[in-house]
Amino acid sequence: GGDAPGLNAVIRSVTLAARNRGWDVVGIRDGFNGLMFPENYANGRGVFELTRDGVRGISHLGGTILGSTNRGNPTAYPVQQPDGTWVEVDRTHELLELFDQAGIDALITVGGDGSLTIGNHLHEHGLRVIGVPKTIDNDLDKTTATFGFDTAVDFATDCIDRLFSTATSHGRIIVVEVMGRYAGWIALHSGMAAGAHSILIPEIPFDLQPVAETIDQREERGAKFSIVVVAEGAVPVDGDVMTIGKSVGQAERLGGIGHAVADRLQELTGKESRCVVLGHLLRGGSPTSVDRLLGLRFGAAAVRALEEGRDGVMVALDPPTVTYVPLLEAVTRMKSVPPDCDTILTARDLGINFGDRPPH
Ligand code: F6P
Repeated sequence: GGDAPGLNAVIRSVTLAARNRGWDVVGIRDGFNGLMFPENYANGRGVFELTRDGVRGISHLGGTILGSTNRGNPTAYPVQQPDGTWVEVDRTHELLELFDQAGIDALITVGGDGSLTIGNHLHEHGLRVIGVPKTIDNDLDKTTATFGFDTAVDFATDCIDRLFSTATSHGRIIVVEVMGRYAGWIALHSGMAAGAHSILIPEIPFDLQPVAETIDQREERGAKFSIVVVAEGAVPVDGDVMTIGKSVGQAERLGGIGHAVADRLQELTGKESRCVVLGHLLRGGSPTSVDRLLGLRFGAAAVRALEEGRDGVMVALDPPTVTYVPLLEAVTRMKSVPPDCDTILTARDLGINFGDRPPH
């Protein structure tokens, strides 16, 4: 799936914890592609040994030394037909055979709901699998946190802080669109941390009239600018989530809501409005110490799970400890922002508008 800051910390941790037990460790490039299509890699090395030297000094690096793909689902692999059309082919058995031929006894798969669902599928077909939760979106239900989220929130907060300069200098509305898929965690946390005036999240369908009224009230109080943070998956009360399109073998791509909100707010308030889409910037860069530590804890816990004879489980954070939950349970339900959680109540107490009209 998508890269997330902290992935390299997991890879380093798995490698060292396994090697310290005398086990061999290999990395598969680009999801399962390295195993399925070795001919696409230099010297046919789609699968390569992960050594102590190979993982030295990588915990602070963004991205992943293994590479990734979000078009490599072996259960629905996209294959182009001679006439140019695409079909999705189930390559599960072929993949399991390749694991066997490579002498791989167990797989540690690091991913969000999509990758962990594939991991569970392979586990159900006989492969020994341990999952490690990864997503900047923080939308996995059975773990309190996923690595990548803290870095994304931290960077989004910094960007919003910086956008205050132009908003205040020019008396503008600035709408900041952030990632998060169908969950509003990144928008909520960064918006609150940076002091946004409105935050629109998928869990609270929005109407822009109350947002415009909040902006007008601020104007009357002498604050000529406003910052609105919009989650890419935010939905208007009378509309649908906005998408950019869907390519074969890929999940739906969300986007476009930030510009739509900025245009409409300009119409409603008469104020100059601009939109900034942070997009993949939130996935890049060096992980925060929180995400590095979480990645290291998750990676070593995955190795301990194998040592303890576990199978078909995901490593999960259940503070103060790391625990294990069945993979199937981990991907059954998405973790959304509860509209009555204390963070939302705090935001409302501060006067932040969610595009609705709360009772008081
Ligand atoms: O799940 C992580 C994430 O960054 C989402 O926040 C976003 O909607 C999606 O991935 C974007 O994926 P891609 O990199 O394929 O555009």
